[in-house]
Amino acid sequence: MIDGESHRLAVLASGRGSNLEAIMAAEEAGWLGLEIALVLSDQPEARALDLARGRNVPVAVVEYCREAGREAFGDALLGACRDHRVTSVALAGFMRILPENFLDEYPDRVFNIHPSLLPAFPGLRAQAQALEYGVKVSGCTVHLVDAGVDTGPVVMQASVPVYPGDDEAALAARILRSEHRLYPRALALFARGRLRRDGRRVRVLDA
Ligand code: GAR
Repeated sequence: MIDGESHRLAVLASGRGSNLEAIMAAEEAGWLGLEIALVLSDQPEARALDLARGRNVPVAVVEYCREAGREAFGDALLGACRDHRVTSVALAGFMRILPENFLDEYPDRVFNIHPSLLPAFPGLRAQAQALEYGVKVSGCTVHLVDAGVDTGPVVMQASVPVYPGDDEAALAARILRSEHRLYPRALALFARGRLRRDGRRVRVLDA
C-alpha cells in the first residue's frame, strides 16, 4: 500500500496554516520528497492561502454549499485536485469532513493531523477535551483519513506532557510545536514508500 510514487501533494487547510508552513519548509529544505502541487481551502480568507501565494504555490478555494450538498462539494474538491494532477492529500487544519467520493479517489493517500493521541479526544477542541478529562500526557496523531471523524489508521504519534498550570492555549501551543515536527516526517516516510498498511495497523518499514 501507500505507495511512494505519489509525488504531487495537495494540502487542504481552513485557517492559520502553520502545519502547511512546516510542510512547505520541509519541501524547501529538500527532504519532504513530495511536491506541493496545490493548497486548497474552503475559506477564501484563510491565512494558509496567503502563505502559499507567497511561495508561488498554486491555490484553489472550494467553499462548502449546504444546498448543493456533500457530493457536490466532493466533486468540486476533486475537480481542483485533478486540475493540478494531485496524487495525495494532506489535511492541515481542514475543518470539513471529506465526502466519500473524494476519499474514493485517493485510497490510503489522504492524511490528517489531529491534536490528541487518538483514539482519545476526536473532533473539535481536542486540547480542551484533554484538559477537562485530566490526562497527564497528550500529543498529536498523523492518521489516514477514512469516512469517520478522526477514526482512520494511525500512522505516527508524538506525546507531550500536560502540566498542572496549562490552559487550552498553552497546551495547544505545546502540541502544535510537536505537530510541526511530526507531520512532515510522516509525509516524508510516505513519499519514500516506507508506510505499509495492514488492516488498521500502519508499519514503518526500515530504510
Ligand atoms: C492543528 O492543531 C491541527 O492539528 C488541528 O487544527 C490545527 C490547525 O492549525 N486539526 C484538527 O483539529 C483536525 N481535527 P494550523 O492551521 O496552524 O495548521
